[in-house]
Amino acid sequence: MRVQFTETVLRDANQSLMATRLPYSDYEAILPTMDKAGYYSVECWGGATFDSCLRYLNEDPWERLRNIRKNMPNTKLQMLLRGQNLLGYKHYHDDVVEKFVELSIKNGIDILRIFDALNDFRNIKTALEATKKYGNANTIASGCISYTQSPVHTVEKYVEMCKELQRMGFDTICLKDMAGTMSPFEAEGLIKGIKDAVGDMPLILHTHCTTGMAYMTLTKAIESGIDVIDTATSCFSNGTSQPATESMFYALKQYGIDSGLNEKAINEVNDFFKPVKQKYIDNGTLNPKSMGTDAQALVYKVPGGMLSNMIANLTDMDAMDKFDAALAEIPAVRADMGYPPLVTPLSQMVGNQAVTNVLVGERYKNISNEVKNYFKGEYGIAPAPVNKDLERQILGEGGKPIDCRIEDSKRTGEDFAKAKAELGDLARSEEDVMSYICYPKQAKDFLEKRKADEERVCKYTMEAID
Ligand code: CO
Repeated sequence: MRVQFTETVLRDANQSLMATRLPYSDYEAILPTMDKAGYYSVECWGGATFDSCLRYLNEDPWERLRNIRKNMPNTKLQMLLRGQNLLGYKHYHDDVVEKFVELSIKNGIDILRIFDALNDFRNIKTALEATKKYGNANTIASGCISYTQSPVHTVEKYVEMCKELQRMGFDTICLKDMAGTMSPFEAEGLIKGIKDAVGDMPLILHTHCTTGMAYMTLTKAIESGIDVIDTATSCFSNGTSQPATESMFYALKQYGIDSGLNEKAINEVNDFFKPVKQKYIDNGTLNPKSMGTDAQALVYKVPGGMLSNMIANLTDMDAMDKFDAALAEIPAVRADMGYPPLVTPLSQMVGNQAVTNVLVGERYKNISNEVKNYFKGEYGIAPAPVNKDLERQILGEGGKPIDCRIEDSKRTGEDFAKAKAELGDLARSEEDVMSYICYPKQAKDFLEKRKADEERVCKYTMEAID
């Protein structure tokens, strides 16, 4: 028996524990060791890393990827891609999605884990097709399902989703439990059901330790036939991050389950990251609170991040006395919206609407534009029928949501040329233009600073010659 590992320290662990503030220079030295560790893959890009590079770290995300590639030539590099939203929050046109995938593969990505918040697979089709078009023999398109619990999210429904991903042509399937609420019992039912339906297709489980169930859930997943698990080197594990790589390795070893991991290398990786972690605890970037267990998400059925966000907002508005009412309102809003998974951007939309309903004292008197657009069908198809009264209130009598993807109803094909023209000589590559399309302000600031820095170096050199 074989169960392989995806190491997440460079992306999800970094994102979950320290808001993705780990600069490349902090971990460059360990990459050659990580390259010998025998991971199934290293998740190192996508998610919030792209935004964080430009916004906070003054790093070119593409250059980071190329550097990781150079230092880890033998390991599959993995990214998380939000389908038609790429790494942002809006739907991009197909030509932009296609170009982004082409450049990601060109700069070093092997595995594209592609998901849509609503599990509306029309929103991951373009990214899949581009992966097939620009990929090479090493490239893997992984179809990813946002896991959530609701009356309509049954094992049968998930099995149907997996069959659809297989029909679409994905190479692997990933179950993504972003809130860490999947129990061992649920994992067993799901994985056995999915494995029966999709045969040999590799199945991956991504979960978080947030609620304290992840080790039990992974153990049950392994017994049920999972092929790959996501873990983080132990000093960057637990809390809101993934379970520890070494702990899972030792547990599997005694069962005689082959992980392909190099024991010496994975221990060296952890030794390397210990002082890195300490540095960010000392300067306050890594809040030790995020490393603890918080089972609230199991009680309230909402992700931990959503709770802390709500507490912060209500505290800001001096309205913490409304916390219990807002919390009770979340399941109602979610049901009205047809039980969307509580992942970005739906978690924010549902949370804000629940808080608004409670603060205004009347349901849906104020409706955010995002929720209106959701009912118009701009984010995709809701998992279950939405509240018809609310739909009528938003769309008018006889109004219907659009029956195509939002980007099908809009002009396409000019975004890239327009962005290139706007950047002028600030852009030196297609990658620069793509950064600007994804994060216009942050990318422009970054490119302007890069230019200014170079001019300064240039002037300095001239003076030195004089
Ligand atoms: Co995650």
